[in-house]
Amino acid sequence: MRKHLKFSLIVLLLSLSFLCLIYTKKFQINSSATFNNESFESIISISTSPLTFDSIETAYVQPENGRNVFFIDSLNLTTNVVIKARTACAVESAALINPSFEVFLIYSSKERLQNIENTPELQAILTYPNVHIYFINDITKFTIGTPFEDFVKSGKLLNSKHPTEHTSDVLRFVLLWKFGGTYLDTDTITRLPFDNLEPNFACRHDGDNLLCNGVMNMESADKSHLVTLFSEQLVNDFNGNIYTRNGPQLVTSVVQKLCGTKNATEIINKKECGGFHVLPPEMCYPIPYRDHRQLFNSSFSDEVMKKVDSSVTVHFWNKGTKGIKLERADKSAYIKLAEQYCPRIMSVDRRFF
Ligand SMILES: *[C@@H]1O[C@H](CO)[C@@H](O)[C@H](O)[C@H]1NC(C)=O
Ligand SMILES: *[C@@H]1O[C@H](CO)[C@@H](O)[C@H](O)[C@H]1NC(C)=O
Ligand SMILES: *[C@@H]1O[C@H](CO)[C@@H](O)[C@H](O)[C@H]1NC(C)=O
Ligand SMILES: *[C@@H]1O[C@H](CO)[C@@H](O)[C@H](O)[C@H]1NC(C)=O
Ligand SMILES: *[C@@H]1O[C@H](CO)[C@@H](O)[C@H](O)[C@H]1NC(C)=O
Repeated sequence: MRKHLKFSLIVLLLSLSFLCLIYTKKFQINSSATFNNESFESIISISTSPLTFDSIETAYVQPENGRNVFFIDSLNLTTNVVIKARTACAVESAALINPSFEVFLIYSSKERLQNIENTPELQAILTYPNVHIYFINDITKFTIGTPFEDFVKSGKLLNSKHPTEHTSDVLRFVLLWKFGGTYLDTDTITRLPFDNLEPNFACRHDGDNLLCNGVMNMESADKSHLVTLFSEQLVNDFNGNIYTRNGPQLVTSVVQKLCGTKNATEIINKKECGGFHVLPPEMCYPIPYRDHRQLFNSSFSDEVMKKVDSSVTVHFWNKGTKGIKLERADKSAYIKLAEQYCPRIMSVDRRFF
């Protein structure tokens, strides 16, 4: 019986790797392959139907060695669950640019992920062998032994006035504490590999000198004490009523302590405090929030492309831009970036992005 199971597993693994090979081949030949090509679609439907997802607690591929990228979907809504093209583009670009990193899209609600629609966008990101979509089965158990254990047990998170945002704020530190790696908001495009950056960083946001938590890297707690400082401060200062309390305010406040000053100019000049790196806005947020519309307006295309020229990620501020209707035929900077950094999502046959 065991032998039989082992044999089936090997056959399954072999056929899976064969399929991966086919994908890789196809995309090496022509990275702009479209998803309405019949032969291609039939290959995909074999491997992804029916869709089942693992929990991060039991999944075979685990985040390791800090070579991880994490995205989080913390919405607790189980109807019409569709991965948006722009979210899928965020995931694809991170996976494409960092082929030797594992990219995880983590759902905080099992039911939500189980209700996800099998769209071409979902299929497209699942063709990347380094993309893993998991849910967290039991957040109480998942946080045992972390600085979040008592906090989660206390129910403070569930009772927050902004449960979606605050769950995301908390989970990104839980994941970094346990596994280390880079956390990315789902409204980013990754342009350059993370290999070349030193671990333990956050980026400033131009204009208000806050350190944002939309793009940040931390080593796991067994390698560095830094992530524990952030986690403990989050738990101690948690306020379920204030939307931004556990985000930029938290990161900025911990960095001020690490640098021994609240003076932004001094922090900028130091660049690094106690092993934590304060990166300039151009690295992660080359277009500040106030200019978010420029990313989606073709009149600013050249100007924006110049500004993002050396950035590792481009944050596109979904809060402000989600209502902007964008055609794939558009010539805005966002579409130019999507063509380059999420070609498989760009090739999905839809009018709007
Ligand atoms: C890839 O395919 C597209 C459309 O089918 C074509 O326009 C393009 O020239 C091809 N590129 C390469 C490198 O073959
Ligand atoms: C699908 O792609 C294959 C190989 O790239 C090609 O030979 C075939 O003509 C394409 N089919 C359609 C319907 O475009
Ligand atoms: C999601 O919502 C359901 C129903 O409102 C609630 O019982 C559950 O605790 C929520 N889960 C999370 C993780 O917030
Ligand atoms: C911050 O530090 C800079 C450089 O040391 C100094 O010139 C400036 O006056 C300080 N600003 C405040 C508000 O203290
Ligand atoms: C794009 O920007 C130009 C110049 O500021 C402006 O006139 C135009 O209305 C903008 N277009 C859209 C769709 O917002």
